[in-house]
Amino acid sequence: MEANMPKRKEPGKSLRIKVISMGNAEVGKSCIIKRYCEKRFVSKYLATIGIDYGVTKVQVRDREIKVNIFDMAGHPFFYEVRNEFYKDTQGVILVYDVGQKDSFDALDAWLAEMKQDLGPHGNMENIVFVVCANKIDCTKHRCVDESEGRLWAESKGFLYFETSAQTGEGINEMFQTFYVSIVDLCENGGKRPITNSSASFTKEQADTIRRIRNSKDSWDMLGVKPGASSFPPHASPFLLFHLDSHKREKYVLKLPRQHQQH
Ligand code: GTP
Ligand code: MG
Repeated sequence: MEANMPKRKEPGKSLRIKVISMGNAEVGKSCIIKRYCEKRFVSKYLATIGIDYGVTKVQVRDREIKVNIFDMAGHPFFYEVRNEFYKDTQGVILVYDVGQKDSFDALDAWLAEMKQDLGPHGNMENIVFVVCANKIDCTKHRCVDESEGRLWAESKGFLYFETSAQTGEGINEMFQTFYVSIVDLCENGGKRPITNSSASFTKEQADTIRRIRNSKDSWDMLGVKPGASSFPPHASPFLLFHLDSHKREKYVLKLPRQHQQH
């Protein structure tokens, strides 16, 4: 049996799962959980001290799911406390603040902390991760756009949701999809099912999108020298890039012929 398989009381019916929240301090982890469980929002910042624990019950298809939620403190000071809680987890809510680039850049470090704590035998592949791009109500301060967040999440096979704990936008949808994915994982013998979203970018495509985002001009974007009249073999053959009418970046992937599905 997989190490992080949940405990089952009655096969096929009730299920007990463990979910944790991760992300920098003040990104809104506790508020997201509060919004879902208590349908309310507190604007005053009350830092989580160590870990907050709560239990909730949800229904997924014919199963009653008992969810143990461990809401972690994001402050580095609580590293030692957090380390006790990573194991035996089926789901992770990974949160960043769309107005704080640092909190987005820190997501890799959060995964590294978890991986390190789980040790060489820990398996991150069998855990459902949902990325919450939180505080989308603060439109004026937004500095991490949807395409960037979604790309990061989906290139890792994680779910991605835009959320606001303040308005409630995206919160129920996020939890619903998250719990369904965890139940799918349990019913799939503890292995993360291959989702459409995780298949949306190959590693090569994700690297190309990243390169395009960081390009200094259009030539660089296409991977050719200024003035070139044809594409060398190494140029990105499958990526077109344009701005839509709302001036938000959109990527259109055009797969090379051998990758196209007929
Ligand atoms: P730690 O417990 O220290 O790790 O922080 P946390 O990630 O749990 O943050 P918390 O939920 O306590 O929220 C931090 C601050 O952000 C609070 O002042 C919240 O009111 C505010 N906040 C949380 N979510 C949102 C949101 O979606 N929109 C806005 N505008 N503010 C939010
Ligand atoms: Mg908190």
